[in-house]
Amino acid sequence: MNQDELKKQVAEAALEYVEAGTIIGVGTGSTANMFIDALARIKGKIEGTVASSNASAERLKSHGIPVLDLNSVSELSVYIDGADETTKHLHLIKGGGGALTREKIVAACSRKFVCIADQSKLVDVLGAFPLPIEVIPMARSYVARQLVKLGGAPELRTGFTTDNGNVILDVHNLDILDPVKMETEIGLITGVVTVGLFARRPADVLLLGTPDGVQTLS
Ligand code: 5RP
Repeated sequence: MNQDELKKQVAEAALEYVEAGTIIGVGTGSTANMFIDALARIKGKIEGTVASSNASAERLKSHGIPVLDLNSVSELSVYIDGADETTKHLHLIKGGGGALTREKIVAACSRKFVCIADQSKLVDVLGAFPLPIEVIPMARSYVARQLVKLGGAPELRTGFTTDNGNVILDVHNLDILDPVKMETEIGLITGVVTVGLFARRPADVLLLGTPDGVQTLS
């Protein structure tokens, strides 16, 4: 099975977590796109969705799936999204697609966070994938200097602006041994909007695509 087939497998498996008559959160990226395409088959079962990016909102709408403003919704039954890296403790790095801020907001509003990922995303220690950090543009250099003090090597994602009008610093060379501590520490740097670590609010369930089938970790 190739990587796309493994992603499709977990995207299909995530349909099990869609509760009838509820509003669900939908993530961003190639795995989330496969989930959106699968969701289209059962769209009559749900009341609507909240999307974590403009790109996902457009894809949902193209299938005729209702997309709601998060401010008009009090709670989401589940949030389904991919990840760039995950540990077996379900701590994640996200933001490879640059949607980390809205992803974190939608995850925070959801009763359950189901992460869907192929087996290549499972790691012992987070940090081989450069950690995305969304930053207010005028604070870019200041934040970068603080990240260097923490041992990181930040790199501006060139030619990219987030849906919120900000920039992304991708931070290399971090061995993230304590993801909760690092999420807190980086989050406190003035000018940082969001750290792409999902450890304070990790996933609740991980559906991991393997050649032997979908493994469920929780
Ligand atoms: C987007 C994300 C994605 O979930 C992450 O980049 C994984 O993407 P893919 O499913 O394409 O591998 O965090 O901001």
